[in-house]
Amino acid sequence: MPPTLNVDVYDLDRYVEGVPHDAFRVLRAEAPVYFHPEPDGVGFWAITKYADVVQISKDPYTFSSWRGGTNIKDYPPDSLDIIRMLMLNMDPPQHNKFRRLTSTGFTPRMIARMEEYIRAAARKIVDDVAPLGACDFVTKIAAELPLVVICDIMGVPQEDRHLVFDWSNRLIGFDDPEFQTSLDDAQIAASELWAYANQLAEERKGKGGKDLVSVLLDAEIDGEQLDEMEFDAFFLLLSVAGNETTRNLISGGMVALMEHPEQRARLLADPTLLPSAVEEMLRWVTPVIHFRRTATRDVELRGQPIKENDKVVLYYASANRDEEVFADGHRFDIGRTPNDHIAFGIGQHSCLGLNLARLEIKVMFEELLRRMPDIEPAGPARRLRSNFINGVKELPVRYTPST
Ligand code: HEM
Repeated sequence: MPPTLNVDVYDLDRYVEGVPHDAFRVLRAEAPVYFHPEPDGVGFWAITKYADVVQISKDPYTFSSWRGGTNIKDYPPDSLDIIRMLMLNMDPPQHNKFRRLTSTGFTPRMIARMEEYIRAAARKIVDDVAPLGACDFVTKIAAELPLVVICDIMGVPQEDRHLVFDWSNRLIGFDDPEFQTSLDDAQIAASELWAYANQLAEERKGKGGKDLVSVLLDAEIDGEQLDEMEFDAFFLLLSVAGNETTRNLISGGMVALMEHPEQRARLLADPTLLPSAVEEMLRWVTPVIHFRRTATRDVELRGQPIKENDKVVLYYASANRDEEVFADGHRFDIGRTPNDHIAFGIGQHSCLGLNLARLEIKVMFEELLRRMPDIEPAGPARRLRSNFINGVKELPVRYTPST
């Protein structure tokens, strides 16, 4: 019999208060492979230890992203076919083909080429709000940079970027009533985004351009190319994967700095700590709380039998505080070394955009620390009601105005 504990790491309402780290601590200590009940569902294995999350992520043949997708909730069969078009929900060997093709757009050279652009964009964002002395950090700062960058690399004209913002909110905010009233709305958002991507692809394909869309559309490996449907699916994935995550890291990282003034003072005094501070923000915030796999056969983990087709949920948020890996993991320490967090996942599906995300975060905090060193909360933060994205919806801040 699987152990039964009085913990709940699913309850959406709990996440409005914050990630339930106390419950994760209990699970890691007492039931690291825990069969968790699920409202309106069959239940899932909650995997909370770092070593287990790593092992499962590196074994896509046993723990599939394709079979049941990567969300805890099961999809109806017709939607499952659609979400399987996203590389996130593919298994090898199909996934390897997509990964090779899409990686051509995310090489260190492609990313380095974007640095100047990203810096200029971050500067403009901060310039626009610095004279005001107060703003909502989420919409005016944190959400803007990833959005501007994704739109730039995907060739979306800047005047259309709020369409992408709105689509990605509606796609991801399915558990938060503020963003959406029904699952239908997510489907409408997806099809609007899809049609938009299709138009972009038609304009670029075969024109030999150097932007990411053109590179992706023209890339050819072993005679294979992305067809238009595959490209549209990739565009949809990027709009969500690249926006919500980076936005919430920037907001959550700023909350962490404001809540730990001694760490902020340390960073202001020694800006060379910024790279390790970025890694610590990633570990601390872990914007993506979990992804799911489905067992493709009966298997045992830590002596616990898992049956074929069982859902297995990888809790990165818990792995990143695992006492066995992180000394004093509940302490926010911007100089932490080593810091082998897995906020970007690991193994077969590790984040394709991690170098881009790291660059955006670093550049944004360089600007913020320089221009708003005394930034402080001007009201309570409002958190996203989600057990999947560790998100902040609103974060009123004030600071000494500057021009
Ligand atoms: C702080 C920012 C980010 C975080 C925390 C993050 C997190 C993750 C995680 C945990 C995964 C693993 C999925 C799995 O194992 O099933 C992933 C995959 C992915 N991420 Fe990110 N991500 C971030 C930013 C970005 C950006 C900026 C992009 C693109 C512009 C991006 C694109 C992707 C894609 C395409 C995948 C799927 C890779 C695959 O299936 O092979 N991410 N990300």
